[in-house]
Amino acid sequence: MTSYETIRIAIDGTTAIITIAREKALNALNRQLVNELTWALRDLEADARVRAIILTGAGEKAFVAGGDITEMKNLSPAEAGTFSALGHTLVDLIEQMGKPIIAAVNGFALGGGCELALACDFIYSAENAKFGLPEVNLGTIPGFGGTQRLPRRIGMQRALELTITGDIFSAQEAFRLGLVNLVCPATELMDRAKKTAQKIAQKGPTAVSYAKRLVRRAEVLPLSAGNELERELFALTFATADQKEGMTAFLEKRPAKFSSSS
Ligand code: CAA
Repeated sequence: MTSYETIRIAIDGTTAIITIAREKALNALNRQLVNELTWALRDLEADARVRAIILTGAGEKAFVAGGDITEMKNLSPAEAGTFSALGHTLVDLIEQMGKPIIAAVNGFALGGGCELALACDFIYSAENAKFGLPEVNLGTIPGFGGTQRLPRRIGMQRALELTITGDIFSAQEAFRLGLVNLVCPATELMDRAKKTAQKIAQKGPTAVSYAKRLVRRAEVLPLSAGNELERELFALTFATADQKEGMTAFLEKRPAKFSSSS
């Protein structure tokens, strides 16, 4: 497996765990990290062993405390645009890849860190975690999709207030807003995420990737186009051995043994 400097990857059965590992800078996202994360996710998408991915931060303090301010400080507008485009490539990949990604938010998820979590399919959060888009405090704005994903996730009014004030909010508030799926003690966070990843691995992989794609497209497609795509992908699942196996196993009252991973 490729080795990286800013992230660690562990494969645990069918689950890949990516740990963002710049603990001294609270796992802040510099260009190298954004690139390495993008390359690693592309590799994991192609790795047939892996059925779900967990993304977390090293240490007890931060998931990711944002874009790396030291690196960003002297960027020209053109370089800042390139950095933002790198970030968009990463968060778009997370949304578009077929394998589900769970953000296990173990501490601060601020700025680019909040945006990274927002792109993941589920967010599980430690009860001491803190969320926010504080970029206005630095004289800038979110650059990794936060201005677009936050209102889609929690509604325009709340998103306007949080993005304009830069307020930092608790995991409990994030749960109340519908931003996170689950809040639990920090000591239980990885176990909860791993259990969900293992549960996903029991399902048909093609069905999982189609389900993810369709629900994601609901954010951008008109209802009629979304329903048309659903009809097409529903039909396509009937071309897979997994659909035959899943339905046969049900009728034979036994667990299904899925194989395909397209
Ligand atoms: N970039 C670079 N370094 C960072 C960082 C960041 N985003 N966040 C923290 N660090 C560094 C600190 O500079 C400090 O380094 P030193 O030990 O060398 O001084 C170290 O991490 C520990 O941080 P603090 O001493 O500040 O820790 P704290 O507990 O007092 O505060 C915190 C924690 C509230 C998260 C605070 O670090 C903080 O506010 N960080 C910045 C958060 C932020 O503004 N994020 C948005 C960045 S802009 C962005 O993300 C744009 C985008 O969309 C891509």
